[in-house]
Amino acid sequence: MKKILVTGGAGYIGSHAVVELAQADFQPVIIDNFSNSRESALAGIEAIVGRPVPIYRIDCGDATALRGVFQAEPDIAGVIHFAAYKAVGESVDKPLAYFQNNVGSLLTLLQVMPEFGVESLVFSSSCTVYGIPDALPVTEATPTKPASSPYGRTKQMCEEIVHDVAGAPGSQLRTILLRYFNPIGAHESARIGELPLGVPNNLVPFITQTAAGLREKLTVYGTDYDTPDGSCIRDYIHVVDLAKAHVTAVQRLLDRKASAPVETFNVGTGRGNTVLEVVRTFEEVSGQKLNVLLGARRAGDVPAIFADATHAAEVLGFRTETSLADSLASSWLWQQTL
Ligand code: UD1
Repeated sequence: MKKILVTGGAGYIGSHAVVELAQADFQPVIIDNFSNSRESALAGIEAIVGRPVPIYRIDCGDATALRGVFQAEPDIAGVIHFAAYKAVGESVDKPLAYFQNNVGSLLTLLQVMPEFGVESLVFSSSCTVYGIPDALPVTEATPTKPASSPYGRTKQMCEEIVHDVAGAPGSQLRTILLRYFNPIGAHESARIGELPLGVPNNLVPFITQTAAGLREKLTVYGTDYDTPDGSCIRDYIHVVDLAKAHVTAVQRLLDRKASAPVETFNVGTGRGNTVLEVVRTFEEVSGQKLNVLLGARRAGDVPAIFADATHAAEVLGFRTETSLADSLASSWLWQQTL
């Protein structure tokens, strides 16, 4: 079994990727500092995969601790790097923390990987790098725009750093950048899922917490956009589909099939849905009526974005499998276990 180091492997997307890796006969090794994840994710992972998964409670930006993991786990074949902060609003308040953590941990990883002969890296990027796009859907060739938040800038900077490092003379680094659209849902077992600490920023956990009575109402941020019903459009991808894209990407790197030192893929469904469509679909699948307030726009929101998923389909053979309705049903099932 090939060993894959998963930074941030106890987090929302990371935990689902760990499960898919284990089920594809890899040996995932988790590192996580639990700054935005919980120990309970580990029990969930082990319950699903039926075997223990090694976990190192360290900060990915701590080079000495990271070297210790590579020493304790010889023969790591590749790395999937999830560990990062991800709240847009918080990044405006704490820009230094975001640059330190998101950029710093990538730099440390890129420094330590070659010391141990590890050359394959899958990096979690975001559709946020496109800013407000001029045309939809966005392809990987769509120009990036200035990011609207320090969070978005860290993703852009990390992409550029990876290009420079992988392109340097003599570099053996092979990297796949996955630009995620909006991940939602939970594992079908309802043993792992999203665990937002405090008040959720993201739409779907806010919806499920409202349905569960933990929040009084859901505010729809803006109904005067130039979209069919006036609310924003996003591409909502089931987290297990997204997790599977990482397995495919890491396998491609290990098989030495990558056609360039850095390859970039959109990971979305290729479908756009409005916020109001998500609300309506959730009500249908859950049977719960939401208390909805049609509110003002949220600063920094992109009016509409969804993926052109052709490149990932043609090159990776990656296609999403889960509908919006099934994704939302899995979120609701998960919420009811909390
Ligand atoms: C944002 C980032 C994305 C990042 C993600 C991580 C941008 C453009 N996108 O996604 O890169 O990975 O955060 O958290 O920076 N909404 C409501 N009411 C709510 C919450 C959300 O109406 O209570 C709406 C938003 O206005 C938006 C949609 O739901 O139109 C999705 O919002 P959210 O889940 O926060 O994700 P993004 O902002 O798309």
